[in-house]
Amino acid sequence: MTEALLLAIDQGTTSTRSILHGADLAPRAVAQLALPQHYPSPGWVEHEPEDIWAATLATMREALARGGAQARQLAGIGITNQRETTLLWDRASGRAIARAIVWQDRRTAADCAALVDRGAAPLVTARTGLLCDPYFSATKLAWLLDNVSGARAAAERGDLAFGTVDSFLLWRLTGGRVHATDATNAARTMLFGIRAGDWDDDLLRLFRIPRAVLPEVRDCAAEFGTTAPGLLDAAVPIRGMAGDQHAAMLGQACFEPGMVKSTYGTGCFLLLNTGDVAVESNNRLLTTLAWQLNGRRTYALEGAIFIAGAAVQWLRDGLRIIADAAESGTLAAQADPAQRVHFVPAFVGLGAPHWDADARGAILGLTRGTGPAEIARAALESVAFQTRDLVEAMRADWGAEGQPVLRVDGGMTASDWTMQFLADLLGAPVDRPAVQETTALGAAYLAGLQAGLLPPPGPAVAHWRLERRFTPRMARAEADALHAGWQGAVQRVLTK
Ligand code: G3P
Repeated sequence: MTEALLLAIDQGTTSTRSILHGADLAPRAVAQLALPQHYPSPGWVEHEPEDIWAATLATMREALARGGAQARQLAGIGITNQRETTLLWDRASGRAIARAIVWQDRRTAADCAALVDRGAAPLVTARTGLLCDPYFSATKLAWLLDNVSGARAAAERGDLAFGTVDSFLLWRLTGGRVHATDATNAARTMLFGIRAGDWDDDLLRLFRIPRAVLPEVRDCAAEFGTTAPGLLDAAVPIRGMAGDQHAAMLGQACFEPGMVKSTYGTGCFLLLNTGDVAVESNNRLLTTLAWQLNGRRTYALEGAIFIAGAAVQWLRDGLRIIADAAESGTLAAQADPAQRVHFVPAFVGLGAPHWDADARGAILGLTRGTGPAEIARAALESVAFQTRDLVEAMRADWGAEGQPVLRVDGGMTASDWTMQFLADLLGAPVDRPAVQETTALGAAYLAGLQAGLLPPPGPAVAHWRLERRFTPRMARAEADALHAGWQGAVQRVLTK
């Protein structure tokens, strides 16, 4: 008998990946396609839904081909995705009625500010664990309903379906038979009660969202349906689903309360497992789900930074001072230690702990001697500085003694220079695992769990292995002084 395989789809902000895993969760084959970005106005970010779908299907097929595998060998597909990005499609044709509004898009900043002025923020936070910010789906969905001709009436009639990318892919994969999401993705819409575990009627009223557009919410490991005939060479069950940061928690095996991971993709997302308790933040962090299994919710505190790897992309594509991302660390290492340049990458506002949608980026401390090396160093350092801001906020909220080990993943963690600086700044160990594709790993794990191939989260799950631990070398006083300099630079860009 051939070994059962698992296929993870990781539909991210800038790329779509499909990764074939063995039942032991070892990655076997990868296929990846870049996702075009659209910036129709300042602060707006859109994706073409057909690009998302075409890349998903193409990479699924390619990963199977590269792994020399057939679809009938798959025990399940797991979907993980960029969260919050908002799609609205016609149930009859399956076609989106507009481009997807990406999580980074700030067009509804004024709508959020108006809701805050009306005193809605405490309700939103109490129910969803989120802050009233354009980052989340609710105001993006309301924007589509109000700005696409005929959308609101069609939605009220039940003709339109809303979903984040997970739901949209599930709809397409099942040939329009299943309109569902999982609890982690639902938790990012600002419409879902994270303690009640259901869509919240008060919030639906507040954001003027008709219930008829919403997907059904399921566990992260569940039977989500099977692939439609003709997509692959056999019908395959879809058995796992989680937002990318939640899947990464599983991929990083952060199963115990107090464990924390930080993923450096386009943005940076730091999540701390808080177990059965939905901890309220006093430091403007988000309360969210880590995962939901068998109807039981595990919670997390989350710090979200909007720009991490995207700053390196900007060095490459905007400033053109590096040819590829890997050069950034080499260039940064050549920077003049005597110069103190700070780069605040607030291209799309600032997330946690500042939540200032109107802040914009700045490079401070320029002198005649400043060149590409100092700017590259400042860009990489900005990611570590922001991580420290989050870790400090988390420590204050969680109240645990000492500094937890940070498990890191994502493209930027390939830079030894950046990871060493991160450990130095935090004054705590930074662990980089052997398998860097932790998001896909988490999605494959969920599918394997549902298929009965893998045990529930706990010590029996043995997929995490350390590749390298970075231990702090910098004197604490120096790290603190550097961080204070960063905080001063941030004050210069804040608008409130
Ligand atoms: O909340 C947004 C996040 O899910 C996007 O992740 O990896 O595409 O930057 P990433």
